[in-house]
Amino acid sequence: MSGLHVGIIMDGNGRWARQHGLPRWRGHVGGVDAVRDVVRGAPDLGITTLTLYAFSTDNWKRPPTEVGRLFWLLREYCQRERNELIENGVRVTAIGRRDRIPRSALAQLERTEWETAGGRRLHLRLAIDYGARWAIAHAAHELAKQVAEQRLVPDDVTPDRLHEQLTGGVPDPDLIVRTAAEQRLSDFLLWEAAYAEFHFSSTLWPDFRRADLALALSDFARRERRFGSLDTVRGAGRLAG
Ligand code: IPE
Ligand code: IPE
Ligand code: MG
Repeated sequence: MSGLHVGIIMDGNGRWARQHGLPRWRGHVGGVDAVRDVVRGAPDLGITTLTLYAFSTDNWKRPPTEVGRLFWLLREYCQRERNELIENGVRVTAIGRRDRIPRSALAQLERTEWETAGGRRLHLRLAIDYGARWAIAHAAHELAKQVAEQRLVPDDVTPDRLHEQLTGGVPDPDLIVRTAAEQRLSDFLLWEAAYAEFHFSSTLWPDFRRADLALALSDFARRERRFGSLDTVRGAGRLAG
């Protein structure tokens, strides 16, 4: 697969709810509609890998009722969307910690991973209980274990080796989109974003649709990427493969 990898920091559910005079959790419900539409539209926009930031390791700081709702929505999403995801050739995988995800949500998530494993049109990565610092430390820990077991020598611990351990061969994101007018990474894909382009949208996530993603991609297509060299690659250049 040689299309684009887009990462999205889905932000603004709480503000959307407040604007509509609704409790915060209703914003997360609206956020699921945005996820559904963006996932449906992504392949036609040339996206082959889509990483959605759904729950950060720091989101545990929120009230337990809100956290509970978010994992309930994850479970519902997996249950309800699984068949459509399979029909549309979407392969779902999760990145992040699994040991703290409530059991019923984790069961649905892992079932979705197995049942969608044959999907070839779009790789949908859900970042759940994910933090880039955790992910990097986890990858470093795996390499340290291999050194301790003498399967690796310290000199083998290079950026390329750590990259492979961390990403498992998933290409780096070409574009990172953040909604709700915030301009920060909030611990999302810190390593992988080394040469990513950024697009900040003021749209609140529950209002975000595939047309907004198309807009982000046309902005991206105008970027000139150099990767440290003097050669210029147009943002959309990667689309040609
Ligand atoms: C994004 O919306 C969803 C998650 C982080 C889980 P927020 O809940 O952060 O919405 P705001 O930032 O409060 O508007
Ligand atoms: C980032 O959004 C995490 C997700 C979108 C899942 P936050 O709303 O948690 O980020 P901060 O706290 O504003 O940086
Ligand atoms: Mg937020």
